[in-house]
Amino acid sequence: MSNAVEVRNIYFSYGYEEVLKNIDLSIQEGAFISILGPNGSGKTTLLKNICKLLKPLKGEIFVDDKDLNKIAFKELAKIMAVAHQDSNVNFEFTVYDIVMMGRYPYQKRFKSESENDVKIVKRAMENTETWALREKSIHEISGGERQRVIIARALAQEPKILLLDEPISQLDIKHQINILNLCKRLNREEKITIITTLHDINLAARYSDYILLMNKGEIKAFGLPESVLTKENIQDVYGIEVKLIKLDDYKVPYIVPVSS
Ligand SMILES: Nc1ncnc2c1ncn2[C@@H]1O[C@H](COP(=O)(O)OP(=O)(O)O)[C@@H](O)[C@H]1O
Ligand SMILES: [Mg+2]
Repeated sequence: MSNAVEVRNIYFSYGYEEVLKNIDLSIQEGAFISILGPNGSGKTTLLKNICKLLKPLKGEIFVDDKDLNKIAFKELAKIMAVAHQDSNVNFEFTVYDIVMMGRYPYQKRFKSESENDVKIVKRAMENTETWALREKSIHEISGGERQRVIIARALAQEPKILLLDEPISQLDIKHQINILNLCKRLNREEKITIITTLHDINLAARYSDYILLMNKGEIKAFGLPESVLTKENIQDVYGIEVKLIKLDDYKVPYIVPVSS
């Protein structure tokens, strides 16, 4: 199987301080990957390097087996879509217009949208249960709905790879599960590679094929949830003691902090 994303020994810094150090990893096509790590450990910076918003100081990135430097932005947008953490929309667009923006890599300049664009937008909205919201302004909907609209716009790009930066951090538990179930369905049924940052260790363990655990700009561990989320790794990275509890209907142990 080929790799959706290959990151080869990249380094990145915003100023003097190195924010990513020697990041080396391969993400298989069709995988569901969660990136975990404390605040400031470099998760967002890594995603921004992968989607070409930032350029590594050293090292190389391949997307869909092509050197990222050699993929034009419009081409990249057909392969990879990103739902950023702070996808603020400051104008009075309708939900429908926002999802239609996802079609831009396929549209010719000064041409209006095609029948195919309309069909794909409708499908993306049905998939994310946002079709009923289509005439509302983006400001009139809830945080959970907005998150689904941002994902719908990403799906309108018909990507093979979907990057999500903390897609559930603002949501209540029901909406968190809804978004993760949606990602899982897109992963399983549409074969979209999912790469998402998350804060909830247990949800990450439950939904992901693989976990990337970051610490201070470096990879602490990458692999199956049960091999990465050990007591020792969590203690090292988060500095807290945890207990791993085996639950009957969970493949992976449930992780709870030990109260002092
Ligand atoms: N635009 C920026 N300019 C300067 N430093 C930044 C910028 N964005 C992030 N950083 C710094 O880079 C480090 C990693 O940040 P980030 O990738 O956002 O971490 P995470 O997403 O894991 O919380 C932090 O120390 C943060 O302060
Ligand atoms: Mg972040």
